[in-house]
Amino acid sequence: MNDAEILCELTPVIERLLERHLETSKEWFPHEHVPHGRGRDFEAGHQWSEGDADLAGHALTPEVRSALYVNLLTEDNLPYYFRTVESLFGADGAWGTWVRRWTAEEGRHSMVIYGYLAATQAIDLVELERGRMAQVSLGETPNPESLADGFIYLALQELATRISHRNTGLQIGDPVGYDVMKRVCADENLHQLFYRDLAAAAIQADPNRMMVSMERQVKSFAMPGTGIPNFDFHSKRIAKAGIYDLQIHHEQILAPVVLRQWEADKISGLSGDGAAAQERLMKRMATSERVAKRYAEKRAAANELQHA
Ligand SMILES: [Fe+2]
Ligand SMILES: [Fe+2]
Repeated sequence: MNDAEILCELTPVIERLLERHLETSKEWFPHEHVPHGRGRDFEAGHQWSEGDADLAGHALTPEVRSALYVNLLTEDNLPYYFRTVESLFGADGAWGTWVRRWTAEEGRHSMVIYGYLAATQAIDLVELERGRMAQVSLGETPNPESLADGFIYLALQELATRISHRNTGLQIGDPVGYDVMKRVCADENLHQLFYRDLAAAAIQADPNRMMVSMERQVKSFAMPGTGIPNFDFHSKRIAKAGIYDLQIHHEQILAPVVLRQWEADKISGLSGDGAAAQERLMKRMATSERVAKRYAEKRAAANELQHA
């Protein structure tokens, strides 16, 4: 099947998923989650320092500050995600309705996180704004090469984002900050369920093509945000804090979705390219499991050393 045929075949599926999404998603307001009472006027040219932050008595580690910076900037790059998804799904019918609705929901994620950071001065807002300008001016985003690749990437990425936001929230300490990230997570969860089930329907419709895409996307998966200044530096800190790392990626993203939901190892009736991709994918999953285990052991050893 080509992209146009998949879009046509899956139209009843996206109509159903859209209806389910609209029934389950709840209206919410970013401004209601922002602790405005902690806000202060800003003085131009003021050099931010940790002491400016008001986190209700809590202090953020540099790792959590990196996570907030990267998570918010990733949300800020929405214009380009919209461009990518609309170019894959099209603007017509339920496909277009979904893309626009999803975009509208994504837009409030940066609003609420920014509102929280501006009110609490949890991180350096000058550095944040310079980072936003640099990233959005660059317009660098993951670009899945086909509709089938897009289904897979979006399902994995929404789940990865949800987990990264949740773990960031858990480490903020300030209950209001936790609530902000939890609210965003609830949206991301519905998004990942949507894309996960859409991909599952596509697997049924065209298992060969989806298997080739699945293998390719699992192999090349990277979080968006590569256009963020010092992305690698911040990613390392985020991994060090256990907010998002290779172990989490395997245990909480790849294994639950690829193996348990899509049951990639059980997809039968594949021919040629599809069967070869399935074999490579299963080998890759086994390697990824080993890497995750090694990562966990290394972390445990480092923790022991730290507490010895
Ligand atoms: Fe988001
Ligand atoms: Fe999302």
